[in-house]
Amino acid sequence: MERLRYQLKSLEKIPVKVWKSSADGCRHVAQSIALAIRQKQQEGEKIVLGLATGSSPIQVYQELVRLHKEEGLSFHNVVTFNLDEYYPMQPDAPQSYVRFMHEYLFDHIDIKPENIHIPDGTIPMEKVESYCTAYEKEINAHGGLDIQLLGIGRTGHIGFNEPGSWEHSETRLVRLDAITRKDALKDFPHEEDVPYRAITMGIKTIMKAKMIYLLGWGEHKAAVLMRAIEGPITASVPSAFLQKHPNVKAHLDQSAASELTRFQSPWLIGMCNWDEDLICQAVIWLSQKLDKPILKLTDEDYAENSLSDLIIEHASAYDINIRIFNRLQHTITGWPGGKPNADDSTRPERAKPARKRAIIFSPHPDDDVISMGGTFLRLVDQGHEVHVAYQTSGNIAVHDHDARRFIEFLQETVNGDHEKVAGLQAHYQSMIDFLDQKDPGQADTAEIRRIKGIIRRGEARAAARFCGLDDAHIHFLDMPFYETGSPRKKPLGDDDIDVVAELLEKIKPHQVYGAGDLADPHGTHRVCIEAIFGAFEKLKGQSWIKDCWLWLYRGAWHEWPVHEIEMAVPLSPAELRKKRQAIFMHQSQKDRPPFPGTDEREFWQRAEDRNQATAQAYRSLGLAEYEAMETFRRWKFED
Ligand code: F6R
Repeated sequence: MERLRYQLKSLEKIPVKVWKSSADGCRHVAQSIALAIRQKQQEGEKIVLGLATGSSPIQVYQELVRLHKEEGLSFHNVVTFNLDEYYPMQPDAPQSYVRFMHEYLFDHIDIKPENIHIPDGTIPMEKVESYCTAYEKEINAHGGLDIQLLGIGRTGHIGFNEPGSWEHSETRLVRLDAITRKDALKDFPHEEDVPYRAITMGIKTIMKAKMIYLLGWGEHKAAVLMRAIEGPITASVPSAFLQKHPNVKAHLDQSAASELTRFQSPWLIGMCNWDEDLICQAVIWLSQKLDKPILKLTDEDYAENSLSDLIIEHASAYDINIRIFNRLQHTITGWPGGKPNADDSTRPERAKPARKRAIIFSPHPDDDVISMGGTFLRLVDQGHEVHVAYQTSGNIAVHDHDARRFIEFLQETVNGDHEKVAGLQAHYQSMIDFLDQKDPGQADTAEIRRIKGIIRRGEARAAARFCGLDDAHIHFLDMPFYETGSPRKKPLGDDDIDVVAELLEKIKPHQVYGAGDLADPHGTHRVCIEAIFGAFEKLKGQSWIKDCWLWLYRGAWHEWPVHEIEMAVPLSPAELRKKRQAIFMHQSQKDRPPFPGTDEREFWQRAEDRNQATAQAYRSLGLAEYEAMETFRRWKFED
C-alpha cells in the first residue's frame, strides 16, 4: 500500500490524503492550522476554528500545543467553537467535552477564555432551543467558521449529526444513536451513565465552514469512511454530505483508507501496476468473491471480474494460481521460532539460531494469550528462551467490586491481630470507604489503582506460568503514559520508549512480538507499538538489532486480512483449549470487563472466533483444513 499501485481513483468524491501514520497526518493538519492563524495575525484579523473532541484530533492538539510552546505560535487572535457536548453534562465531569478541550488544548495555550465556545450541557431543557439559536448566531456574528476539524463516528456521524440528520440542520439538541452510545461506553463506567442526548452543530453549520479537515485513523474507521467518501450522498451517512463541500480534505492513515476501492480492489477502477503482493490480494479477492478454491480459478474467472490485465500482462490463470497457492502455503508453520535444521528458504522464520530469544510484548496484561496464546505455548515447548513483557498495568479495567474483594481479603488476613495491625486495618477501611462513596466515572486514588494493577499482575503471572514461563522471564513495564487513572492517556514519551529499549537491550532478542491491532478503543495498542518502534529506532546502531525480527500480531480487536499474513501458526483443538485456559487466568476480565468496547463477546470468544475464521479462510482458498490459526505480519524497518 506504500507504493502507488493504481492509476485512477475516480470513485472518491472527497479529496483524500493518505498518511503513513496518524502522527504524520496530524502534524500536517496542525501546521496548516498554524499557518492560517499566522496569516490572519499578519492581516490583523481573528480566525474562527470549529473544533472536535474524541480520539481523532488529539494529536493535532498536541502538535498545536508544541507549536505554541516551542515555536511561539500565539492563539491571541483565535476564536473557537466546539462541535458538540453531551446533554446533560457538567463541565467538570471526566467525560465532558469542556474538560477534554481544556486538558488537551486550552490550558496549554494563550487563547483568551472569552474566545472559547463549547455547547453548554447544563442548560435547562426549556432553554435549550433558544440557547442553540444563540450559539448558531454567535458563530455567524464572528463571520462563520474559517476551519472546521471533524472526526467521524461509526454511524457516519459528524458532530453528533446521526443518520437521518437533515442537510439543512443547525445547532440543536439531538438523540444519540445506539451505536454512538455504545462507542461512548469507552469513556463511561456503565452503559446507563452514557447520556442519551447531545447538543451539536448541524450539517448546515458545518458545511458553511470555509475549509474542512476530516480526520480518520485506524481500521475501525475504514468501512464508514469508504461509505462517506465513495458512497451516495444520503442522510443515512451524514458525513457523505461533505462530498458537496468545495473545500474539504480527508486526512487518513493507511488503515483507515484500506477499504477505499483504490486499495481494496484497485483493478475495479483502472490499470494497476502489478507486483507480487497486489497479485496475491487480487487472487484471494477473486477466490473469495467466487467462493472457489484458488487452484480452480480459470482464465474466464479472471477475465469476467476485471482481472483480464493480470492474465494478459503476467501469466495464465494456471501459473498465477499455483504461484499464489504456494505463497500462502509457505506462510503456514508450526515452528514460529523457526524449524531447526530445516531448509528455511520458503519458511517465515529463520532456522538459525535453533534456540532463539524471544520477547512477547503485551500492551495490556492479557493481550499475549488472547492474541497469540497458541504461538506462545509452541515457542516455549519448542525450547526457545521466551520472555513476556506487559507494557501497561491495565489498572483502569478492573471493576471496583473486584478491588473491594481483594481489599477485604487483605483485611481479613490481619483480623484479630489488633495491636500490630490497627494502622493497616484503618488503611484498608479507608480504601473501602472511598469505593463506597465513589461517583460514577470518578478516577481512583493512587492506592486503589495500585490494588487494581496488582490484581492484573497476578493474573498475568498465572497465565504466563501456565504457558511455561518462570518468573525471571515475566516483566512488568508499567509504561508511564498509561498511568493517568482514566481512559484518557498521556502521549507517548521518551520515558515510555526507554523502558522498552532497556528490556530489549538486556535480552537482545532474535524475535520480538508486538500488538499490531490498532483498533482498540483507547489507543493503548497504538501507543505501545509506537514505543516498540521508537525503541528499535533508538537501538538501531547495535549489531544484534539488525538480526532481530519484529512480528506483529492481532486478535483482541480484529485480524489481518489474509493477503497480509506472513506467518500463520495452526492450532489443534487441544492447543485451542489450552489457549482458552490461559485466557481464563484473567479472571477480572471474564464475563464483562469494564470498557469492553462494542463487541458483545468475551475476549476468549473473540479470539477463538477469529482464529477459527482464519483457518476457515485458508480452507476456502483450497489450503489445508486446521482447527484454528494465529497470524502474524513482519514489520520491516526502513533504513
Ligand atoms: C466529537 C464529535 C464526534 C467524533 C466522532 C469520532 O466532538 O463530534 O463526531 O468526532 O464520534 O470520535 P473519535 O474521534 O473518538 O473516533
